[in-house]
Amino acid sequence: MVTYLEADSAPIKNTGQIRLYGEDGFEGMRKACKLTATVLDELVDVVKPGVTTNEIDKLVFEFGMDHGAIPATLNYRGYTKSSCTSINHVVCHGIPNDKRLREGEVVNIDVTYVIDGWHGDSSRMYPVGEIKRAAERLLEVTHECLMLGIDAVKPGARMGAIGEAIQKHAEGERCSVVRDFCGHGVGRLFHDAPNVLHYGRVDEGIEMRKGMIFTIEPMINLGRPHVKVLSDGWTAVTRDRSLSAQYEHTVGVTDDGCEIFTLSPKGLDRPGLPG
Ligand code: MF3
Ligand code: CO
Ligand code: CO
Repeated sequence: MVTYLEADSAPIKNTGQIRLYGEDGFEGMRKACKLTATVLDELVDVVKPGVTTNEIDKLVFEFGMDHGAIPATLNYRGYTKSSCTSINHVVCHGIPNDKRLREGEVVNIDVTYVIDGWHGDSSRMYPVGEIKRAAERLLEVTHECLMLGIDAVKPGARMGAIGEAIQKHAEGERCSVVRDFCGHGVGRLFHDAPNVLHYGRVDEGIEMRKGMIFTIEPMINLGRPHVKVLSDGWTAVTRDRSLSAQYEHTVGVTDDGCEIFTLSPKGLDRPGLPG
């Protein structure tokens, strides 16, 4: 049995219950999420051949410090960076390092800033210089998957509606949906109930209610869906080494749909893609 509770009066730990946030929560999330979206905007002109992912990570850290935000990933379960940078066949949780980005690569940059205890979680794909048509198509399909998932969010619908919308589009475009990672409740906690699956059927999962806040963050592969985690304990890669892409927004359920908290202030939600 799933239970829902008023977020204001609940302890800040993941008990599997679904937190319902009020206007204060939505205000807090708007601020944290806007800063996350703003640094992702800043990175559009930074990501180019020759830049290292550690340089990107440093920018994310310092931008946060300058604006009163702490990166949620810092010291999270032993993770020591301010961002995740996942290149090409890396599905997620790539660890920034001193290697230089190269022309033709695609990199996901995932940032979660915490302001006043509110977590703003978002990621985008960034092309490094000119990329191949197949890579561009994967980025387009993956962003479309995210937005179709978001379109399925409304009170009374089940979480499975999100997964079905994403899976149908991805598989219809001969891509595959990663099963091993999912979206998550977010707000006072970085990772909270419920899990948000990126596959499934409309009649599955719990019912969405006004006040729920969660991420949708589909990972879509050009090849097969299977992943493995490297010996560093974090880096997840496609087993067949096929290209993988991901975009992530944080959303809050409203009376008739949802509010996307992490939309780009500059309209740069899909860097390098037309439109
Ligand atoms: N930001 C990621 C997410 O979307 C989580 C990263 S956890 C880390 O949920 F430790 F790998 F950074
Ligand atoms: Co997330
Ligand atoms: Co994230």
